[in-house]
Amino acid sequence: MKRILSCMQPTSHLHLGNYLGALKNFVALQDEGAECLYGVVDLHAITVPYQRDGLANATREIAAAYIAAGIDPKKSILFAQSAIPAHSQLMWLLATMSQMGKLERMTQFKDKAGKNKERAGLGLFAYPVLMAADILIYKATHVPVGEDQKQHLELARELASTFNTRYETDFFPQPEPYISGPATRVMSLRDGTQKMSKSAESDLSRINFTDDADTIAKKIKKAKSDPDVLPETLDGLEDRAEAKNLVNLYAALAGITNEDVLKEFAGKGFGDFKPALVDVAVAHLAPITARMNELMADPAEIDAILQAGNEKARAMAGDVLSEVSEIMGFWKGS
Ligand code: AMP
Ligand code: TRP
Repeated sequence: MKRILSCMQPTSHLHLGNYLGALKNFVALQDEGAECLYGVVDLHAITVPYQRDGLANATREIAAAYIAAGIDPKKSILFAQSAIPAHSQLMWLLATMSQMGKLERMTQFKDKAGKNKERAGLGLFAYPVLMAADILIYKATHVPVGEDQKQHLELARELASTFNTRYETDFFPQPEPYISGPATRVMSLRDGTQKMSKSAESDLSRINFTDDADTIAKKIKKAKSDPDVLPETLDGLEDRAEAKNLVNLYAALAGITNEDVLKEFAGKGFGDFKPALVDVAVAHLAPITARMNELMADPAEIDAILQAGNEKARAMAGDVLSEVSEIMGFWKGS
């Protein structure tokens, strides 16, 4: 049976990359009828400096974004990672099977640790092991994420195999990355060679879930592009990183392919294309933003949804952890 799991960190606001690369697929998989679990990974969020006073609300905000985007808490289980101790417990067990050399090669660690690796925290280093635990603790089979998480997913797959080999079992399934759609790697609006990210210093580089229609319009109009017209075929977008990104965005927002976008806009310049992109972005995002604001005005409702999800997740994760303990030979009394 398919079991879908994915998570997002409650670190600042979600942006269009999070939505098109990941969240939109969370909703599609739910609507296909798969069993889905979606987490807010607050233990991951504290691996970088964070605001203690804002953490609980940031956690609610991700849950609100999930629901506003179309996750139905009656169909999918929504949970907060720190409320399910089995994630951290399984992480420790997996840590004993994780090689430091592999963790050192993780590009996200290298990016976040920067030049001063010696001073990076153990939490940042071990982050991918916790992510593997998030996935394996539910024996998830499919993990919808953006392109940038592929390397972490590969590690989770390796840990599942290492466990199975070491303990001569087929207990953990191999979790498959689900990386799908025209916008699996959304680039910065200011620089088509950098991915859109929460941490880039310029707010003009990204469209946030909290941006209103005027802000979205301003950011798209200021987005870096080029003086050429749009080509007839996709080959014509090679070496035009910014143009390609804007076409991908249009396709993903309108729910059509890149080829269809070019059919409509070939021969037109960005003076024509950008206003059309603003329209499709605003039409798509405005209802989500409005719903998110409504939900954030009633934190008690979000809390109740998370609490109900936590209970279900805790029961599932607890069962898997008991089986893992048994397989690994831990004492359990008589
Ligand atoms: P994060 O913001 O790191 O918690 O990411 C949450 C999800 O959004 C993950 O599945 C990422 O792969 C995805 N994601 C983040 N940035 C982008 C981007 N620029 N393009 C596509 N997907 C992204
Ligand atoms: N590492 C992911 C990110 O930065 C977030 C994450 C944590 C995750 N645990 C996960 C994603 C488990 C999928 C499955 O985006």
